[in-house]
Parts: sequence; C-alpha cells; structure tokens
Amino acid sequence: MSYSHILFEVDAGGIALITVNRPEKLNALSGAVIADLHQAFERIAGERDIRAAILTGAGEKAFVAGADIQELAALSSLEAREFARCGQQVFRMLETSHKPSVAAVNGFALGGGLELAMACTVRFAAENARLGQPEVKLGIIPGYGGTQRLPRLVGRGRALEMLLAGDPVTAAEAWRIGLVNAVVPQAELLNYSRAWLGKALANAPAALGLVMEAVDVGLNAGIEEGLRFEATAFAVSAATDDGREGTRAFLEKRKPAFAGK
Ligand code: COA
Repeated sequence: MSYSHILFEVDAGGIALITVNRPEKLNALSGAVIADLHQAFERIAGERDIRAAILTGAGEKAFVAGADIQELAALSSLEAREFARCGQQVFRMLETSHKPSVAAVNGFALGGGLELAMACTVRFAAENARLGQPEVKLGIIPGYGGTQRLPRLVGRGRALEMLLAGDPVTAAEAWRIGLVNAVVPQAELLNYSRAWLGKALANAPAALGLVMEAVDVGLNAGIEEGLRFEATAFAVSAATDDGREGTRAFLEKRKPAFAGK
C-alpha cells in the first residue's frame, strides 16, 4: 500500500505509526490526506497483526493545523456537507476500530487536527502543543466532530468556552481540563506513547476491544443501554480463552499467557 501524504510503518509489536506528512502546510488535512487516512484506518481495523496505532505530525511544529483552508474556501454548501460527513466517517472508523490509538500531539492541533486527536483513544501532548477549535474565527464551525467530542471530553462549559472564543489552550491547560492525558517533552513523546500502548497491549485484545466498545455505547446511548451492553460484553469476555486463562493464571499465582482468542 502506498500513500502520498502520510507515512505508515508497523513495528514488530504491531503498533502502526501514522505520520501526517505535509510539514510545509503544518500537516493540514487536505482531501488527499483524508483519503490516505481512510486507507490507513481500514488497515488498522481490518488487519489482525496491527494491534494499535499512534498518530502524529511530521516536523516539530504541528500535529495537524486543521482542515486545509485553501480547499475549504472553494466548497459549495453541499460540497461542504459531503466534506464534513466524509471526514467524520473516516475519524469514526478509527474510533470504533476496537484497537487503542494514541494521538501524539507534537505541536499545533487546531480545528480538524484537534478533532483527529479527539477521535483517538488517548492523547499525549508535547510541551509546545497548542490545541483549539478556531473555526469560528473563520466564520465556520467544526465539521469533523469537534462540537460532539470536545464536550464529551472536557464538559459542556469548557467546550463552549473553547468553541465560541476559538482560542487555543496550552498543553498544560489541556491536561488540566482533561483534554490530553499527559504532557511530556517533545523528544519523549513517541516513546511515552509506545510505553502506554505496551501496557495496554499486554492485556487480552478482545478485552481491550470490548472495553472500548462499551465506553462508546454508554457515552453515546446513555446508561441503561450502556449497562446492558456491558453485561453482554462481560459475558463474551468471560467466555473467551483469554478470559479463562487470565482468571486461572491469577488463581494459580502465575502470569497469564494471552493468545488473542
Ligand atoms: N490549511 C492550509 N494551510 C495551512 C493551514 C491550514 N489549516 N495551517 C497552516 N497552513 C499553511 C500556511 O498557509 C503556510 O503556508 P505558506 O507558507 O504557503 O503561506 C504554512 O502552512 C505555515 O503556516 P504559517 O501560518 O506561516 O505558520 P505560523 O507559525 O505563522 O502560524 C498557525 C501557525 C497554526 C497559528 C497558523 O498557520 C494558523 O492559524 N493556521 C490555521 C489554523 C486554523 O484555523 N485551523 C482550522 C482550519 S478549519
């Protein structure tokens, strides 16, 4: 598979590193980048050997500085709707892939960049990162999920504060409000991301996928449906080979050997 605007490498542990690679445009999301991400996220969801993903941006200045404003400026209303739906579906594909993903936010994450980071399972930020939804400053609104995921992550009041003023927050402020999970020096960002994924991936893959699905169902459908889903997912996890192995290993006072079944 070849990509023109992203780099895609999978390491021996099954972690895919996806780098948005347009540093001269601060990694802005053109239609071509979204098309590459679509292919990449399909691989992540579909290939069993890929167990997790890290997303980052090329260079030291930007994760992704937004949707490509040059392209946006030329859209008719109907094209803009299609543009938003297409990006939303691509990001949702990653979010619902049942595999953990990390946004390694190595600089500006603005507009579509923050929206992409929020579609990842967790976000780790470099100290120089700046995160925001500045769309209103351009006379438009977020179209890749910003109005939906930001309030789910930081609460309605803080989300509206960011969405209405359009000003970015620093990495430290993003951590304080729960928008990012940790702030680390830029040179340590990828290692930190890999280390966290290493801990998650030591656990049974089916359990990871079911936890992610249960959180997604509950947050989007409400607690009654979420609890019903959780009980069914719990039953599924308990009946997997890994579920039996994990509980048996605890009782036998040894480390579990998960086979991914
Ligand atoms: N779309 C298209 N091009 C973008 C872009 C975007 N979202 N963000 C940055 N670029 C381009 C700039 O036009 C510039 O290109 P040029 O060298 O051909 O003129 C290049 O990337 C470097 O950006 P520049 O603005 O010169 O860097 P800076 O350090 O002065 O400012 C930002 C950095 C992030 C503050 C500024 O680029 C910015 O505000 N970008 C837009 C952010 C935004 O509104 N995103 C939401 C879009 S919906």
